[in-house]
Amino acid sequence: DTQQHGGLRTPIVAVLGHVDHGKTSLLDKIRGSTVIEGEAGAITQHIGATAVPLDVVSEVAGSLVDPTEFDLPGLLFIDTPGHHSFTTLRSRGGALADIAILVVDVNDGFQPQTEEAIKILADSQTPFVVAANKVDTIPGWQVHEDAPIQQTLDAQSDRVEQQFNEKLYEIIGELSDAGFTSDFYWRVQDFRSNVGVVPVSAMTGEGIPDLLTVLMGLAQRYMKEDMEIDVRGPGAGTVLEVKDEQGFGTTLDVILYDGTVRADDTVVVGGVNGPIVTDVRALLKPRPLAEIRTESRFEKVDEIAAAAGVKIAAPDLDDAIAGAPIRAVRGRDLDDVIAEVQAELAEVAVDTGEEGVVVKADTLGSLEAMANALEEAEIPIMRAEVGDIAPRDVAMATTVEEEEYRAILGFNVDTLGDAADRAEQDDVEVFRSDVIYQLVEEYEAFVEDIER
Ligand code: GTP
Ligand code: MG
Repeated sequence: DTQQHGGLRTPIVAVLGHVDHGKTSLLDKIRGSTVIEGEAGAITQHIGATAVPLDVVSEVAGSLVDPTEFDLPGLLFIDTPGHHSFTTLRSRGGALADIAILVVDVNDGFQPQTEEAIKILADSQTPFVVAANKVDTIPGWQVHEDAPIQQTLDAQSDRVEQQFNEKLYEIIGELSDAGFTSDFYWRVQDFRSNVGVVPVSAMTGEGIPDLLTVLMGLAQRYMKEDMEIDVRGPGAGTVLEVKDEQGFGTTLDVILYDGTVRADDTVVVGGVNGPIVTDVRALLKPRPLAEIRTESRFEKVDEIAAAAGVKIAAPDLDDAIAGAPIRAVRGRDLDDVIAEVQAELAEVAVDTGEEGVVVKADTLGSLEAMANALEEAEIPIMRAEVGDIAPRDVAMATTVEEEEYRAILGFNVDTLGDAADRAEQDDVEVFRSDVIYQLVEEYEAFVEDIER
């Protein structure tokens, strides 16, 4: 089947922000307020993502969205866990997310992971909006469930409105310090040069209509061309996670951003020792909540088209790495596809030397971000790999001559087996954090200590 099947795919929206600022609540609210009565366009749950079709967006957004103005199929939200490594996920040299929502708690303002997320959004030139969350916690706030923000704001007292403005301007100030001009979203004309700030409450649903409207508008206006894909072409995606799944062995959670993957496809995926070629054994989707209790958690499907999240079961996936590219071969020359995957892996290859620190990170993208930060700080790297800190990393770190390089910097990873004990015995310093610049700062403090 070599025919072109043009189509517009769903834009991929990453939800980012500091721990506890309300990322999951925001998605829960969007899901919850949109469980509509059986008719078309239900929300679908994917592996690692949630698809919200256009008719649901317009239902939630009410009068704010006119669905006839849009031809994009909806929005695919990527859920992020308590850390932000999704920020660094890539697709063909760019960012995997087409747009991002940066969630900021109005009581807390910018926090380390907010700063980090914004830096990575800037580096990858990913357009984003800020969801200024938890506005319902402003003392005296009168709740108007699921109302657009203007409507609820008009009904608040002057005192509440004044506090609201103060908190919002603080965030606008922090954005400015981070190098972004921003304003209340309703005052923003051009969302490419100005960041729109959308006040919301993930608890009460206030401002959620506005948030969906802004995202949909942003995607439609500025991203439509990027969304034009050959829907039936061989699939391309990014590995979110490599996971053991009972009954399936090692599986990949994948966000598919182009084409289709079929249950009988051969795929090429980035691995620790280069591209892995394997045959799909099963394509798995999560079952609707109601069915999970009675049967297995997954449903097998014959094919899945971008944009979507899917679990892929196949042999030989043990060495696959999170953040790596995956491609369906279908009809193309296998060597070409291997070369493609190889080239993408090489793009994130880190310059290493004989002397330097050992770096470990949870995904390819975060490894790249770590390498960039270390390069900026002029800290040399001896080895850089995706994965937890293992005893052999400690052994590696003991081979350096300079004391200051007897160190392992782990981003978003655990220590395996007796790695921690061995490091202690062998005088290897281990730094672990979910925040890149904290790792760099801690390491720099350690070096200063040695020099003193
Ligand atoms: P991590 O995944 O751990 O990074 O946190 P998160 O950003 O997903 O935050 P989560 O959604 O888990 O919310 C953290 C806490 O804030 C929970 O107790 C929520 O109930 C609360 N919360 C989230 N949004 C709101 C809001 O709009 N208003 C109020 N009052 N509480 C909120
Ligand atoms: Mg969460």
